[in-house]
Amino acid sequence: MKFFIDTANVEEIKKGLEMGLVDGVTTNPTLLSKEKKNPDAVIGEILSVVDGPVSLEVIATDTKGMCEEARRLASLGTNAVIKIPMTEEGIKAVRTLSREGIKTNVTLIFQPVQALIAAKAGATYVSPFIGRIDDISLRGMDIVEDILVIFSNYMFETEVIVASIRNPLHVLQAALLGADIATIPFNVLKQLMNHPLTDIGIERFLKDWQSIKK
Ligand code: E4P
Repeated sequence: MKFFIDTANVEEIKKGLEMGLVDGVTTNPTLLSKEKKNPDAVIGEILSVVDGPVSLEVIATDTKGMCEEARRLASLGTNAVIKIPMTEEGIKAVRTLSREGIKTNVTLIFQPVQALIAAKAGATYVSPFIGRIDDISLRGMDIVEDILVIFSNYMFETEVIVASIRNPLHVLQAALLGADIATIPFNVLKQLMNHPLTDIGIERFLKDWQSIKK
């Protein structure tokens, strides 16, 4: 299972790389806006520090505009992947870009048939948004399960990125289902390594060690 980091913050990406937990990066306009810097400069820096795929989202909403933006973003680095929203115009763009050899990540997927359509169009990745489905009191992870069955039924090579992850349980569920990738915010990435019993255990070992040293 690959771990991507869901951030546009270069410091977080560098820390994640040091932990060995960053196989790729996903960004979006909201994450880039949080950096309060020139987005092109941030994108350039991310592409230079990460070897793995970096998803960069288009802003245009029409096919022609999306394709033009995608070609520009793809020219910024060999590891650039273009995030395209799951719309009719977006799917037409994915079909064109896929023929041109440009990698795409179809984003804002909320039901399994959207993922099927994206895979048929030649998407490299699909991103179902789990947390946002949970937020409206539905089971986000159910759609990941369905997408994985559909992709296996028809042997699609499109990889599933479990996105909109809010907590370590989402990562566990994604792993149990065999999802290809989880894209994880930095705070959750750190939480994955923690357990209060680990901390208590270390504290007790150190205390006992001190007692025999006296
Ligand atoms: C995925 O690629 C998105 O950037 C991200 O996971 C969205 O998550 P959110 O619902 O926390 O904004």
